[in-house]
Amino acid sequence: MVDSRVEMQIDFARLRERLDALGAVGGRPDGGNSRLALSDADREGRDLVVLWMRDLGLEVGVDRIGNIVARQPWSDDTAPVMTGSHVDTVRAGGRYDGNYGVLAGLEVLTTVIERGVELARPLAVGVFTNEEGARFPPDMMGSLVYAGGLPVEEALATLGVDGAAVGDELERIGYAGPLPCPGPPPHAFVELHIEQGPVLEHHGVTIGAVEGVQGISWQELVLTGEPNHAGTTPMSLRHDAGYLAAAVAVTAREIAAEMGGDQVATVGSMRFDPDIINVIAGEVHLTVDLRNTDEERLRQAESRLVARVADLAAEEGCGVGWRRLARFEPVAFDSEVVGLVERTGTRLGHPVRRLSSGAGHDAQMMARLCKTGMIFVPSHRGISHNPAEHTEDADLAAGADVLLHTVVALADERA
Ligand code: GLV
Ligand code: MN
Ligand code: MN
Repeated sequence: MVDSRVEMQIDFARLRERLDALGAVGGRPDGGNSRLALSDADREGRDLVVLWMRDLGLEVGVDRIGNIVARQPWSDDTAPVMTGSHVDTVRAGGRYDGNYGVLAGLEVLTTVIERGVELARPLAVGVFTNEEGARFPPDMMGSLVYAGGLPVEEALATLGVDGAAVGDELERIGYAGPLPCPGPPPHAFVELHIEQGPVLEHHGVTIGAVEGVQGISWQELVLTGEPNHAGTTPMSLRHDAGYLAAAVAVTAREIAAEMGGDQVATVGSMRFDPDIINVIAGEVHLTVDLRNTDEERLRQAESRLVARVADLAAEEGCGVGWRRLARFEPVAFDSEVVGLVERTGTRLGHPVRRLSSGAGHDAQMMARLCKTGMIFVPSHRGISHNPAEHTEDADLAAGADVLLHTVVALADERA
C-alpha cells in the first residue's frame, strides 16, 4: 500500500516568509542578524515566533529559564515528538543558525495540523534560551537546564559579558516563565540545522544525518602583569600581559596543529586593560575554545594548554587565573534516529551523508533525556557565525521535508 503521506511537503513560501520576517528582527545592514540572548531583539524575535505558535492553536508554555515549548493540544499527557532549536544569535551572526530549526519545526507542525494528519503522539516545537553562549556562558544553557544538567538557580545567577544576570534579563524581557525545570522528557527529539561547516557542500550532498557532536571546552584566562610606560620600560623588565595573551593564542594554535585530526583551538576574545597605545597591558581577559570528537584527545589538549601557559607566564613574570565557562563531552546520537534520518532523506530523493557536528547544539543536551538526532543541510562555503551565512532555498526546503517525515515516523510510534 502506498502511504499518501510520503508525498506530503512543507510550504516553502511560508517558511521563506517567516525566515525573512524573523531575520528582520535585529537585522544588520550587511544582511546578518544580531540577537544576543535576552536582549531586546531576542524578546522581539521570541514574541514573533510565539504569535505564530498561538495562531496555529498550539499550547505555548514558558519555563523558568525562558525555554518556549509549543505543543499540539492532546487529550492526555502522551510524550510528544519534539523538534526546535534557538533564536538567539552571536553578535554578528547569520539568518539561519538556530532560526531555521525553529521555523522549519513550526512549519512541520503547521503542515501536519493543516492536513489533519493523525498521529499516535503530539508534535512539539521548542525555542531554547541562550544556545549561543555569546553573552552568557555556557552555550546551550536553556536545553542544558531543560535536561537537568544545570540547576536553574545557578543558570539564573549567571553573569554575562556585560555584567547583566540571566534571571534579571529574563524578567526584563518577560520570559521568566512559571514551568519547572528540568522539563518533561519528550518521546524523541530531532533538530534541523544548517551544517555551519563545508562537508556537505564539498561532497555535493543535500542532507546530513548527524551521528554526534564533538566535545567542547571553554575557558576564560585572566592574565595579570604590570601596567607601565611603553617608552621607558626596558624589554627585559616588563611583565606584559598583552604579550602573554598573544603567546597564549599562538600556543593554542600550535597545540591544535601538533595534535592534528579533529582537534581545533580558537582564541576568539581578548580584552586589554587599560587598552591604551602607550601603556603595557596590566590585565588581559581572553577566551580559549577547544573542541575534539574524542574525549581523551580533548583532555590532552586541555592539559597541554595548562602546562604551556604556566611556562609562558613564568617567563614573563605574569599571573594566570583560569575559569571554566563550559565543558561538554562528545555526544553520540541515537543510532535508530540517525538511521531514520538517513532512510528518510534517501526516500525523498536526496543524497545523504553521515557526519558529525563541529558546532554545539541543543540536541546534544536533549540526547540526555530521549532518543535524539539531527538533520543538517549545506552551508555555502561552510561559513557561519558570520552575516554571510547562506544556504540555498532548495536545500532549506529539502531539510524541512526530511524533518517533516522524520518526526511523523517517530510520532507514529506508540510505545
Ligand atoms: C554554539 O553554537 C557553538 O557551537 O559555539
Ligand atoms: Mn545553532
Ligand atoms: Mn551558533
